[in-house]
Amino acid sequence: MKPYFVAANWKMNGSKKLVLDLIEALQVVESDLLDIGLFLPSPYMAEATAMVGQTMIVGAQHVSQHESGAFTGEVSCAMLQDLGVSAALIGHSERRQLFGETDDLCGQRLKRVLKSGIAPVLCVGETLEEREQGIVESVIAAQLESIEVGFEYASPAIGFTIAYEPVWAIGTGKQASPEEADEVHAFIRSRVAERWPALTSSLRVLYGGSVKADNVRPFASQPHVDGVLVGGASLDVGTFTEICREVAVAGQGG
Ligand code: PGA
Repeated sequence: MKPYFVAANWKMNGSKKLVLDLIEALQVVESDLLDIGLFLPSPYMAEATAMVGQTMIVGAQHVSQHESGAFTGEVSCAMLQDLGVSAALIGHSERRQLFGETDDLCGQRLKRVLKSGIAPVLCVGETLEEREQGIVESVIAAQLESIEVGFEYASPAIGFTIAYEPVWAIGTGKQASPEEADEVHAFIRSRVAERWPALTSSLRVLYGGSVKADNVRPFASQPHVDGVLVGGASLDVGTFTEICREVAVAGQGG
């Protein structure tokens, strides 16, 4: 069985002190059942990779689709790899909504990270309106379809993660029920198996959206949930450590 993946997405929050404190606290919850990923603001990634070595994954929240060149403010895959950063978020809904990232752009980025050997965490999810219209599956299918330009570069050695994050559940305190989330996860898994079978062995599907220590276990216990992507609650050392513990317990059948 693949280890559960618990990923922290700090967004534009945190400090160098929080990096040090969180990594130190996480040493006690490291386990073979868990992969812990820290998706940090760029200035903190070097500090984090130096501290964690191979014990945790340090990931980027953003990476350029270009190899190098005159792209002021952008960060390339090669630069991330120079620091030991081994994963990257692609298509987070905040990037899509606030920075105009299109499916096409996400596809280009996915291709670039996979070609470089960086493991993608591809974010998909529906808006509240789309859920109310009953079109969740077609929205997710279209999001997957439109970024498939990158899929041919996937390989089990790199790993591939899809994070299902209902847009209306991010940072709002609202959530899909664990069963609703699991249905979408099952759909994602079956869609991937049907359309891109080579991806299935390495695929992990995470749930994200207002995950906290006291609500994570029912999600992690669902059959198609392989872990969680945690925003706000990852900024509190005690809470994030507890989330990791809870997921490990769920992994043991608790
Ligand atoms: P949240 O964010 O846990 O604060 O809802 C999740 C995310 O944006 O990945």
